[in-house]
Amino acid sequence: MKLSQSLSFRLDSTGKIRIRSSDISPEFFITPDIFWILKAIQMNIPLPKIPQYIKETLKNTHVPNDYSQDIEALISEGIILNESSYNTQENLLSDSWIQWSMISDDIRTKTYLEALQKIITSESTVMDLGSGTGIFALSSLHFGAKKALAIEESYWSEKIPLLAKRLGLPVDRLEVFSGNSMNIKDMKSPDILVHEIFGNDPLEEGLIPYLMDIQKKIKPNHILPQKISVYGQACEIHPDSSLFYKIEAFQKYSQQKVTEKTPFYDLFLKEFIDINHWNDLSFTYKITAQDFIPRSESLHLWSLSFKDLSSFKTKDRTPKKNIASNNCHNLDFIKNTQNSEKIVTKPYVFLLWFRMHVDNDLTLSNHPLQDDYCHHWSLIVVPFKNYPNLNEPLEVKSGVSQDLLSLTVQVKQNHNIIANRGDR
Ligand SMILES: C[S@@+](CC[C@H](N)C(=O)[O-])C[C@H]1O[C@@H](n2cnc3c(N)ncnc32)[C@H](O)[C@@H]1O
Repeated sequence: MKLSQSLSFRLDSTGKIRIRSSDISPEFFITPDIFWILKAIQMNIPLPKIPQYIKETLKNTHVPNDYSQDIEALISEGIILNESSYNTQENLLSDSWIQWSMISDDIRTKTYLEALQKIITSESTVMDLGSGTGIFALSSLHFGAKKALAIEESYWSEKIPLLAKRLGLPVDRLEVFSGNSMNIKDMKSPDILVHEIFGNDPLEEGLIPYLMDIQKKIKPNHILPQKISVYGQACEIHPDSSLFYKIEAFQKYSQQKVTEKTPFYDLFLKEFIDINHWNDLSFTYKITAQDFIPRSESLHLWSLSFKDLSSFKTKDRTPKKNIASNNCHNLDFIKNTQNSEKIVTKPYVFLLWFRMHVDNDLTLSNHPLQDDYCHHWSLIVVPFKNYPNLNEPLEVKSGVSQDLLSLTVQVKQNHNIIANRGDR
């Protein structure tokens, strides 16, 4: 056993020790003996010797002889990792709160469940790639599937049989693989492969390499989701958005001409942009409908069908050859009759967003103005470094990075690049 690497402690104003398993999980307080259990684990003291160690450390304090229940609780909070989990993945996805944020997004989860329920029969075998809590594998059993295999590399894999039991599901029809799908050598082709390994940049969790790998081993009849589509939209940042001053300053200082009279503050910000090579600035952000004003249509950039990944050539990742038929698109700004300005000085961004086609009819997107929006994913913000000319079209090219782990986009106006997300 060892401690989670993302663990943090805090001594609050009343002197209590507060702990959290990651930056985004809830904080709770622990008693001094629990603190010393963690210390003992860090020092590799064997479990049976921990009570003795605590007795010696906390002299004069009555301590129990058995800490197994406390240790169980610390494991389930992701604070202590046991062997099967730290041999596999020690990351944020082991955090219960992160898993909760996924399953509690009812639009996301119920869309998947609806798609599964439509196709599951008593003959179905279902493989759930990246099963997290096991929600799709266990729901498949609930819908009457013959078999479900859950593949999960975080410590959550251990909890899946427990949840199955508590839910009264046929545990004998459930198989759990604790580890990364790349490490499975032999597997039988299931009827249905369901996967949800989409990040905020949908590719960042290894979607393409993992699906490519698994498709070398199996040939499922159905794959859910079937396809991903990527879109882009030029937007103005709303003055009330917390992004407004940041993007406005980025645009201003990206273009700053330095003279002898340039104030030190301006020089500082310009240098900061330069040393960070922010001609390629982009980030994922939980943008809301209040953060932006659309200034163009959403442009469909490309789609990738997951059924065809076997033909996805790793050497040739340009969307032109691999993903879309036409890689360079023109995008016009929406004409604003009240706005006679040619050059705007407002903060502008290119929003890169995605839609997943769970099946032919059911889709999910991360764009807050789309009907199929679900809260779970952020989208990618690519700030403009020049103020755009609203009368000139943008030329947009998008694709996949060399390592297949991120989306790329290049936005030009009059042959000058004004927004770029390159290889990360
Ligand atoms: C985005 S979560 C989705 C969890 C669950 N399917 C759901 O929808 O609530 C992705 C999960 O897949 C796991 N994962 C990602 N890639 C994996 C792989 N190649 N093999 C095993 N687990 C993987 C992660 O640990 C994480 O728990």
